[in-house]
Amino acid sequence: MKIIAVMGSPKEKGSGHKIVKMIEDRMIAMGNVEFEYLFLKDANLKPCIGCYNCMAKGEEKCPLKDDRAAIEQKLLTADGFILSSPVYMHSVSWLMKNFMDRFAYLSHRPRFHRQKMLIVVNTSITGEKTALSTLKIALGHDRGAQNVQELAIATPPWPQTERAVAEKERAIDVSTKKFYQACLDTSLPLPTFNSYMDFLMMQKFSLICRQYLPADYTFYNGKVYYFDMKVNPIKAAAAKAIVGIYIYLMKDMSPGNVLWPATKSLSH
Ligand SMILES: Cc1cc2nc3c(=O)[nH]c(=O)nc-3n(C[C@H](O)[C@H](O)[C@H](O)COP(=O)(O)O)c2cc1C
Repeated sequence: MKIIAVMGSPKEKGSGHKIVKMIEDRMIAMGNVEFEYLFLKDANLKPCIGCYNCMAKGEEKCPLKDDRAAIEQKLLTADGFILSSPVYMHSVSWLMKNFMDRFAYLSHRPRFHRQKMLIVVNTSITGEKTALSTLKIALGHDRGAQNVQELAIATPPWPQTERAVAEKERAIDVSTKKFYQACLDTSLPLPTFNSYMDFLMMQKFSLICRQYLPADYTFYNGKVYYFDMKVNPIKAAAAKAIVGIYIYLMKDMSPGNVLWPATKSLSH
C-alpha cells in the first residue's frame, strides 16, 4: 500500500510532522506500507494567480510552469493521502491552501476516486473545525463517494496532562486504523444517491455553461457517472427528476444576457 503525506507546515520538524510520523509508524506496523512525504514548503508549486484557466479551459492551460502536473501524476500512484496542516487563523496554512487552489479543477473534474484521504490538523487550541471543513474538499474529494477520515490534535506550546496525551494517542490510533482499513479497499466507490445527483447537477450545468466551461463540458459529455458503471434505471429517473427541479430553481445562476459588472468579460 502506498501512502503520500502532503505536509502543509512551513516548518519541517513541527508538531504536524511529529503526528504524521506517529501515523506512519503505526501504519508500517500494520502491514506492507510504503510512505512518502511531500513537503509543500520545498515543492515547486507556484501561487495560484486566479486566471480560472484550469477550471474553465483545462488544467493544461495553467500558465504557471512548475511541478503541478508531476505532483498530480505522483498522487495518482498512491492508495491514500494524508493531508497535514497546522491551523492558522482558524483555517489551513497558506501552503496547504495554495495546494488546494492549484488542484481546484478536481472539484469540477474529479480524478482521485480510488484514493482514500486522512486529513490531519494540529492547533494550539482553536479553529480545528473550520480547518477540517476546508481541507476535506481538497483534491476533488467533494465529488463522488470518497472516504475521508478526519483527525484534529491540539499541540499547544506547553507541556500537557497525562490524560490529554493518552486521549490524543488514542485518537491517532483510531484514525490510523480506520484509514489503513479504508486504503486496503482499492475498488471504486459505489455512488450514493446524493453523489449521483451531484454528478448529474455538474453534468447538466456543464452543458448549460458549455461556452464558459468547455473543459467541464468535454469531461461530462456522454458519461453515465464519473467512471463507467451501471446505474439502476429507477434511481436514475428519480435523481434526474430532482436535478431538473434544482436546475429550474437555480435558473438565475445560468448564463443570461447582461454583462455585470459591465467591465468584466463573462468568457474566461
Ligand atoms: C500565523 C499563525 C496563526 C495561528 N492561528 C491559530 C489559531 O487560529 N488557533 C490556534 O489554536 N492556534 C493557532 N496557531 C498555532 C498553531 O496552530 C500551532 O502552533 C501548531 O501546532 C503549529 O504546527 P506546526 O508545528 O506543525 O507548524 C497559529 C500559528 C501561527 C504561526
